[in-house]
Amino acid sequence: MKNIAIFASGAGSNAQKIIDHFKQSDKARVTVIVCNKPGAGVLQIAEREGITSILIEKEAFLHSDKYIQLLKEQKIDLVVLAGFLWKIPANLVQAFPNRIINIHPALLPKFGGKGMYGHFVHEAVIAAGEKESGITIHFVNEKYDDGETILQERIIITPEDTPESVARKVQALEHQWFPVIVERLLTSSES
Ligand code: GRF
Repeated sequence: MKNIAIFASGAGSNAQKIIDHFKQSDKARVTVIVCNKPGAGVLQIAEREGITSILIEKEAFLHSDKYIQLLKEQKIDLVVLAGFLWKIPANLVQAFPNRIINIHPALLPKFGGKGMYGHFVHEAVIAAGEKESGITIHFVNEKYDDGETILQERIIITPEDTPESVARKVQALEHQWFPVIVERLLTSSES
């Protein structure tokens, strides 16, 4: 049984999809939810699902090995960033080489980087007159939205689309693909 840690700061709809995907699985399970925001929706999901949640402190996260030790103790195989807004410090990246992935709600390298999250992404996509957008699932390195791409999936943008409608279409792709890719990564590392 592989262990997944989900890092999330927001509502947690992607976290919920991943939890649901592995509920009946004998391959993997969501072992811990790591959050930096008191009151975030994802914490209620953790509670309802009976999954341990950890509220992290910025100082210790950025300047110590506290959370690395904790993830190692929990025997975490894959760290999944699902709407986690802090940059991952180098020591954590190095402790889990190619074992931290992120989902971004646009086609990187476009519309990525610091400050590009949530509705800011979709507003920028519409303002730029893009004809398509989508999702990028990628490995995490020391820079924002920069690691090697694992998967991109696209949606078409029509003249009627708004940032809100693009957000809905992109979220549907996230929910469809993120659990599948998590499973693929975990099972392909079995050999
Ligand atoms: C998603 O759009 C994801 O791409 C992003 O943050 C959002 C998280 O949404 N990086 P939710 O909390 O999973 O609903």
